[in-house]
Amino acid sequence: MEKLLANQVALVTGGSSGIGSGVAKALADAGAAVVVNYHSHAEEAEQVCAEIEKAGGAALAVQADVANTMQVENMFAASRARFGSVDIVVANSGVQKDNAFADMTLDDWQQVLATNLTGQFLTAQAAVKEFRRRGPTTTSKALGKIICMSSVHEVIPWAGHVNYAASKGGIQMLMKSLAQEVAPERIRVNSIAPGAIRTPINKDAWDTEAALKKLLKLIPYGRVGEADDVGKAAVWLASDESDYVVGTTLFVDGGMTLYPGFADNG
Ligand code: NAI
Ligand code: BGC
Repeated sequence: MEKLLANQVALVTGGSSGIGSGVAKALADAGAAVVVNYHSHAEEAEQVCAEIEKAGGAALAVQADVANTMQVENMFAASRARFGSVDIVVANSGVQKDNAFADMTLDDWQQVLATNLTGQFLTAQAAVKEFRRRGPTTTSKALGKIICMSSVHEVIPWAGHVNYAASKGGIQMLMKSLAQEVAPERIRVNSIAPGAIRTPINKDAWDTEAALKKLLKLIPYGRVGEADDVGKAAVWLASDESDYVVGTTLFVDGGMTLYPGFADNG
């Protein structure tokens, strides 16, 4: 059977770790060649590429800081040089720098907004330009697909994390406004909003029994998510199976946004 993303090229920012590596591997498994972006850990990105190649896929590791215009442009140029173009772009890179509001430094605020929000702006902008340059293909109904990695915190307020929650709230309207602007060109822009997924970013929330018990109270479905849960959603959103899905946020959260505190209260 033909794979869903056969003959397509995907670029995943922050593809070297956590959710990004799960997404990169799932897209490769569905037939896409994958550009695995990393910021500072080349060996992790090379490891993801090696796993993809071992499974019969094609992958390329490319270093870039997503908050730097020139580096983002170079990343797309590297993708063009190796694979000709790109069809699917997953703007996934993100960081947390948590602190109580009054103690949060301007640097903590700016770094999180730079990576999480400006990084998605620059990545999506380079993607739109590349889709237009390349023109239509026969491999997908859309001219291109952009998936923004948001979070349940695009809607759930998060004390002690105002920089992070503001960045994800920003992604919600960046995604929707961009989707409205480029849909007439048949560029599909959507978001995935994961709940708690087991990755390095939230290790403190799941790596002890006490922390895990507390976290599970927020997840009606009763388990922490895995990177592959997000990977499978990304494959669907990137494929023609979701061709009529435009400007929407797909929550992959085990029910975290169902206000679980109200289950026996209110
Ligand atoms: P992670 O820490 O494993 O991955 C973050 C990735 O972003 C890494 O690959 C890192 O190299 C990359 N990155 C950081 N700064 C960068 C920069 N300046 N330029 C390029 N890449 C950079 O964490 P995780 O969980 O995999 O996070 C991935 C995305 O998923 C983030 O946007 C995060 O906000 C989002 N997310 C994570 C959830 C979770 O529970 N793990 C839930 C909801 C959203
Ligand atoms: C955060 C994680 C957190 C999850 C659920 C994500 O956006 O990065 O640290 O566990 O949301 O609250």
